[in-house]
Amino acid sequence: MDKIIIRGGKRLSGTIPISGAKNAALTLIPCALLTEEPLTLRNLPRLADIDGFQHLMTQFGASTTVAGKRPEDFGRVVTMEAPRLTSTVAPYDLVRKMRASILVLGPLLARAGEATVSLPGGCAIGNRPIDLHLKVLEALGAEIELAQGYVRAAAPDGGLPGGDFTFPVVSVGATENALMTAVLANGTSRLFNAAREPEIVDLCNLLVAMGAEIEDIGSGDLTIHGVKRLFGTTYKVMPDRIEAGSYACAAAITGGDVLLEGAKEKEMAATLHALRNIGVICEVEKTGIRITADGPLKPVNLSTAPYPGLATDMQAQLMALLCRAEGTSVLTETIFENRYMHVPELARMGAHIETSGRTAIVHGVDRMTGAEVMATDLRASMSLIIAGLAAEGETQVRRIYHLDRGYERLEEKLAQAGADIERIGDE
Ligand code: EPU
Repeated sequence: MDKIIIRGGKRLSGTIPISGAKNAALTLIPCALLTEEPLTLRNLPRLADIDGFQHLMTQFGASTTVAGKRPEDFGRVVTMEAPRLTSTVAPYDLVRKMRASILVLGPLLARAGEATVSLPGGCAIGNRPIDLHLKVLEALGAEIELAQGYVRAAAPDGGLPGGDFTFPVVSVGATENALMTAVLANGTSRLFNAAREPEIVDLCNLLVAMGAEIEDIGSGDLTIHGVKRLFGTTYKVMPDRIEAGSYACAAAITGGDVLLEGAKEKEMAATLHALRNIGVICEVEKTGIRITADGPLKPVNLSTAPYPGLATDMQAQLMALLCRAEGTSVLTETIFENRYMHVPELARMGAHIETSGRTAIVHGVDRMTGAEVMATDLRASMSLIIAGLAAEGETQVRRIYHLDRGYERLEEKLAQAGADIERIGDE
């Protein structure tokens, strides 16, 4: 298996281009199932998860064409077309590799009146149930059955009526499935306490471009008037606010000066607020956000929360940065129950962190040292890369297939900004 080797201590400077957002792309792609016409997505990142999702789409009869871009270009242009659905079943073998596969449930149900999708199971960051996905689809009028590890959703005769639902906790994925279903329902649906993440806004904007009628986009209470059919369109995927935040932490821990090209201030306001409190300078420029760190890093108390709060997907990377702050920080993870898997690995690099339930106390240390480390999820792996950039000596990060799921050409982007980093193939 490939590994990444970093020789720490190099200051990052220059420009890092920000790719299209993985978590937006993963909900925009299944929208191609909602129409007979072609849907073209621009600025799709090249990631293992995106390739996996495109492969899943072929299961339902969707064709995929990648426009002729040079391999060195970022941001692919992909056209997907499903004139006719050839299957409405997402089998275990495809779903188990990628949790986001559950996002085909809504579109298949909306278009074909039925869908059978394997239950995704748990994952490294927690139990991650899908009960809210099922409850909201039921509220929109679907009949739901669970059997043999699969969920089957079916519309009644005459189609889904639509309906109202209040989410007891905010769920990004369940809001996405609900939106992709309600847009083709017979009547009006209202979603209360819906997720407001920028990726949800991106999804709503695409659906509207396809002919959907959605009110109060960007708020937690969405009204969707079902339409008879949706149309093809061309749409550009938003920039990845988590990738941008991750490179901001990388720049900061090396005392660097990096322009995050294409990053948007509003979508990552909570991360920028945290970074500024840590003492990092974040300046909005015409083409992106400049991150500069030239003084000591200050300790802070941070708690993750649904948007517009601090993203749980930034917790591990900020923790790596706070390992080098002058003093003690307290982090609280409120979204997932098991998202401190990076802590023992950071400790192997000299970090001093205590965890108790959902709280982590990070005592800043003067120096960290390179080590062989590995992590069990994407953001945890990124925190090890960030720590490695500032550690003395060599850090070897293993199991980098996690990174390949979510960071497009990571070692190339960091090397361009001056990091001493390389990917080594399996001996
Ligand atoms: N939850 C339930 N029942 C459900 C759905 C969610 O109890 O039916 C709980 C979850 O267990 C969790 C909370 O609700 O405690 C929030 O989960 P959410 O549904 O919002 O997460 P998700 O849609 O499964 C997406 C991102 C994650 C990101 C979370 C939170 C994608 C593909 N994934 O997951 O991204 O952490 O929202 O913002 O969009 C990552 O990119 O590394 C990643 C894990």
